[in-house]
Amino acid sequence: MDTHSHRKDEHVFIAEKLYQADSHNGLEQVKLFPHNLPEIAWDEVDITTTLAGKKIPAPFFINAMSGGSPATAKLNEKLAVAAAATSIPMATGSESIALKLPETAASFSIVREKNPVGIVLGNLGAGHTFQDAQKAIALLKADILELHLNAAQEIVMPEGDRSFKWRASIAEIAAKSTIPILVKEVGFGITPQTLQQLHEIGIKYVDLSGRGGTNFAKIENQRRRGKDFPLLDDFGLSTAETLIASQPFQTQFSFTASGGIKNALEIVKCLVLGADNVGLSGLFLHTVLKQGSTGLIELISQLKYQVQALMVLLGCHNIAELRKTFFTLSPELDSFQKQLLKK
Ligand code: FNR
Repeated sequence: MDTHSHRKDEHVFIAEKLYQADSHNGLEQVKLFPHNLPEIAWDEVDITTTLAGKKIPAPFFINAMSGGSPATAKLNEKLAVAAAATSIPMATGSESIALKLPETAASFSIVREKNPVGIVLGNLGAGHTFQDAQKAIALLKADILELHLNAAQEIVMPEGDRSFKWRASIAEIAAKSTIPILVKEVGFGITPQTLQQLHEIGIKYVDLSGRGGTNFAKIENQRRRGKDFPLLDDFGLSTAETLIASQPFQTQFSFTASGGIKNALEIVKCLVLGADNVGLSGLFLHTVLKQGSTGLIELISQLKYQVQALMVLLGCHNIAELRKTFFTLSPELDSFQKQLLKK
């Protein structure tokens, strides 16, 4: 098997090996206050929202993970079956391998075959050309294209990129693309400085993808045992921090939150902190590997129900009202927010 294909299998295998049921993404330091007099009925709650400008039935989706090898083709198929059955959007993993090795293309296009009418997100690294982006979109008949910023991951990889001049290509893709472009991190958190730069080149949709869940510094280190580069294991902004830091940019962007999301309470906390929707990878990977599509469909249905239940308890009719709900931050997050305000 090509080394690039092998790496895709290793990512899945090691992500699952390192999977932890508890996240440390900072959301445990955010407290929501229940409304003891909610003055609302279950049926009055609307959990629909948008993802990169497209209406979606629940505020979460299956984020980028898979494709590029026979094993990850099977995984993409199972994820797509669950996405189609529950009408939630799904992203594939990076399609760059399909551009390089056309024989791997079917491991991505299976996602569209199994989910002909659902919202599908393609995925590429940020350094690609507009022509590559067009091919990646065509392969999936994608509705949205994710461009990932993964400098920290590349640095940990011995075979990774060492040049990170991405701004012009992102700007070109965003200017020419006929579908929405969603710029994302891979678990190190997008900073306010980056948001300012992304705003200047016309990006409107950003997945903040914070630290605290799947950790690509740890995954890449496991791939080359004995030659550890643990420098970046705790690098970056947590999911809670990146959400707090993005708040001054609420009017310029529609945000996706991700990074270690494990339950409905964490989804709702992300929405309260300003996200329009939430991406999950590690939890959905773990579930589909252990319980197949059926188990994942069950989990997604439970999450929808539980998000609605929490919105009832918070007295919120819709996602916009969640933004106004009262919450407190731990002293650590409060201090983080105050220090940012001084900048
Ligand atoms: C990923 N992620 C990812 N992201 C991306 O933009 N392109 C990719 O190809 C991949 N590949 C990938 C493989 C595997 C096995 C995992 C688990 C994850 C990153 C993913 O989309 C997300 O940003 C992070 O995993 C953080 O979310 P979780 O896993 O903590 O919910």
